[in-house]
Amino acid sequence: MPIRWPWKRTDEIAIEWRELGWDIHSHLAPGVDDGATNVDEALDMVRGMSALGYRGMVITPHIMADLYPNNPETLRPAFAKLQQAVSDLDIHMELQLAAEYHMDHEFMALLPEGELMTIPWEYEGNHKTLVLVEFGFHQAPEQAMVEEVLFTLQTRGITPLLAHCERYPYLHRNDNLLRMWFDRGGWLSINAASLVGAYGPETKEMAERAMQAGWVSFLCTDAHGMRHVHAMASLVRSKIVKQWLESGHSKHAGLGVRPKI
Ligand SMILES: [Fe+2]
Repeated sequence: MPIRWPWKRTDEIAIEWRELGWDIHSHLAPGVDDGATNVDEALDMVRGMSALGYRGMVITPHIMADLYPNNPETLRPAFAKLQQAVSDLDIHMELQLAAEYHMDHEFMALLPEGELMTIPWEYEGNHKTLVLVEFGFHQAPEQAMVEEVLFTLQTRGITPLLAHCERYPYLHRNDNLLRMWFDRGGWLSINAASLVGAYGPETKEMAERAMQAGWVSFLCTDAHGMRHVHAMASLVRSKIVKQWLESGHSKHAGLGVRPKI
C-alpha cells in the first residue's frame, strides 16, 4: 500500500536530502529507550526517512545510568530485530548501531578504556570515530568534567560529538561551554525539530546561532517518533539549512561517501 506523506515534492524544494545522506542520531531500536516502542513504529520512521532520500541511519539509543542502563549486550538484539525487518521488507536504508551517552558517572567510568559504541565516519577522505554525548537538560556539567571528556576521548582517537547543542537551557544566555567544546576539537549537532520551533523560540534561536557560528557539523532527526521525521521534512525550504549546507560546515557525507560498517 503506497505511503502518503504530508509534504509534496515540487520544483520549489531547496534542500536535497540526499546531500545529507545519513542521519546519525535516532532512537529506532525497539523497546530499549523512549524512542520506538516496537518494530512497526521504527519501520514507519525508516520508511519516512527513505522517502525523503536518506540512504542510511545511525541508531543511537540512550545509555543513561538512571533511566536507560543500556550496554552493547542489551542494544544489539533490539537493533538486530529492526535490521531484520528492514531487510525482510526490502526497504533501502542502511543501518548502523551506536549510542547516545549521557555524560554521567557510568560514562565517565567507561571513558579511559571502556567499550564505547562509536560511529565510524568517512568525510572527504578522512576517517573519524565519533561518540555521541549529551549533557543533562537541567544542570550544566562541571567544566572540568567536560574538559576530561574532550581530552580523554581525543587521546583515544575518538571525536566527541555533542547531541542537540541548542537544547540546554542553561547555555542559551552563556554559550561559553559550546564555544570551548568546538575550540577544543569537539563536534556539535542540532535537531531538526529545534529549527521548526518545537522546543520554543530560545532553542530555535540557539540552533540558528550555532549554525551561523560555524559550530554545527550535523543536522539530525533525533527521531523518537514520526513527529521528528516530519520536522526534518518540513525544513525542505529552510533558507538557514540551505546556507549551512553551502557554507561547508556540514560534515554530512557527500554522495558515495558513507560510514564504514
Ligand atoms: Fe537523542
